Amino acid sequence: MPQSDALRAASQLSPDNVPLLLLLAQALLDEQDAAGSRETCERVLQLQPSHREGTLGLARALLAEGKTSPAAVRLEEALRRDSNFAAAHALLARVLLAEGNRAEAAEHYRRAVALDKNTLDQALARELGADDPPERPARAALGVSGGSGAPVSRPLEEGEEWKQADEDAPPPERPPVTFAQVGGMDALKEQIRMKILYPMQNPALFRAYGKSIGGGVLLYGPPGCGKTLISRATAGEIQASFFCVGLHEVLDMWIGNSEKNLHALFRAAREHAPSVLFFDEIDALAADRRDLRQSAGRTLINQFLAEMDGGTAINDGVLILGATNAPWHIDPAFRRPGRFDRAVFVPPPDEGARAAIAEILAADKPVSALDAAALARKTDGFSGADLKAVFDRATEDALTAAMKSGQLVPITTKALLQSAKSVTPSTRAWFESAKNYALYANQGGLYDEVLVHLGLKK
Ligand SMILES: Nc1ncnc2c1ncn2[C@@H]1O[C@H](COP(=O)(O)OP(=O)(O)O)[C@@H](O)[C@H]1O
Ligand SMILES: [Mg+2]
Repeated sequence: MPQSDALRAASQLSPDNVPLLLLLAQALLDEQDAAGSRETCERVLQLQPSHREGTLGLARALLAEGKTSPAAVRLEEALRRDSNFAAAHALLARVLLAEGNRAEAAEHYRRAVALDKNTLDQALARELGADDPPERPARAALGVSGGSGAPVSRPLEEGEEWKQADEDAPPPERPPVTFAQVGGMDALKEQIRMKILYPMQNPALFRAYGKSIGGGVLLYGPPGCGKTLISRATAGEIQASFFCVGLHEVLDMWIGNSEKNLHALFRAAREHAPSVLFFDEIDALAADRRDLRQSAGRTLINQFLAEMDGGTAINDGVLILGATNAPWHIDPAFRRPGRFDRAVFVPPPDEGARAAIAEILAADKPVSALDAAALARKTDGFSGADLKAVFDRATEDALTAAMKSGQLVPITTKALLQSAKSVTPSTRAWFESAKNYALYANQGGLYDEVLVHLGLKK
């Protein structure tokens, strides 16, 4: 069975899944079905009109169909949006060569290689009669890596220093939460101890084994399952200072184009080491939306990456945590070594964890004889946040009854079970998408834990 069949079947189940469509388009092209590949890319561009990989795929398919002039138009459009789009230059070189325009083709090929060495294409170079690729000019590629469109942090020039930030560094928090307040999740806690806390507390040991300890850890998983909670608890567990950057702060930075704030934040975290610098909903900052990068946002992303690359030397004692529900939207540049190179899957609570969470949620409410185990049994697929919704509804009902009768009406297990029926568990939808990425776009094993969780991998 050709690979495209499986991908097409998957794509029918998840028709708006862009990464899947792109894989399908590539498979079709590999199988010489240029028209099918073109249609698939057209679908991508319907969903996301200026999608970079989609545009590239479309041009590739058009070229394979011999339709060089629409292919050139598409690529020129893409290059108008980003003149440093290396892969587009490289492909345009092929298109121009097919049209017999050797001189311009060579020019675009040179541009491509100068921007990104990954676009080196010896066959094309030979056809162009330009066997020796030109040396990459020192400055031309600053701030861009081209090929994948991923940004590369700008290294500091010699003698250049970070501008001193005007802003006062934000004060750290000391989160009172520890692992004890996180219900269940023993395997996750153990993993955090091994992957995060132990290296931080024993850097010499890790270095002795040639392991670097800088960089960051990405927590990912379905919404409402305790990523934010466990991040706080991770700081609490080692009594580290805690700096939390939420969605709003990040959006403010985008709008204000505030690299300065970002630098002040990293500096504060270094000054207060040991510390945890937590970027909640990091996809807001690290989103793989290439068009955003053309604007002010690119400097912010580049600075973020440069601060992270400060790495082992200057970020000693600073643990950088990022949390996201949508790891597939994160730019691969963020996952390179020394950046968010470790990933931890925060799964939905299992039965034992749900019982523990129920106990925690019941603690400050008038609940009579809570049967946490019974509730846990009936709430498969519920996140911690879903369980909280179950308690909230039951609480409201009890409160209404109390107001009517003028007496305290306790929340019963029966009422909680009833309430659970009206709450839709939210984690399943997440696994629908996650499964696609895990099966078809498992970036270097990023989603292995998801596959294990789904029983698709040992
Ligand atoms: N393991 C857990 N133990 C106790 N409460 C939890 C747990 N997981 C989730 N919750 C509850 O659900 C809420 C949402 O969790 P949160 O950490 O914000 O999820 P996420 O960041 O993964 O979206 C928390 O504030 C907490 O009340
Ligand atoms: Mg959260």
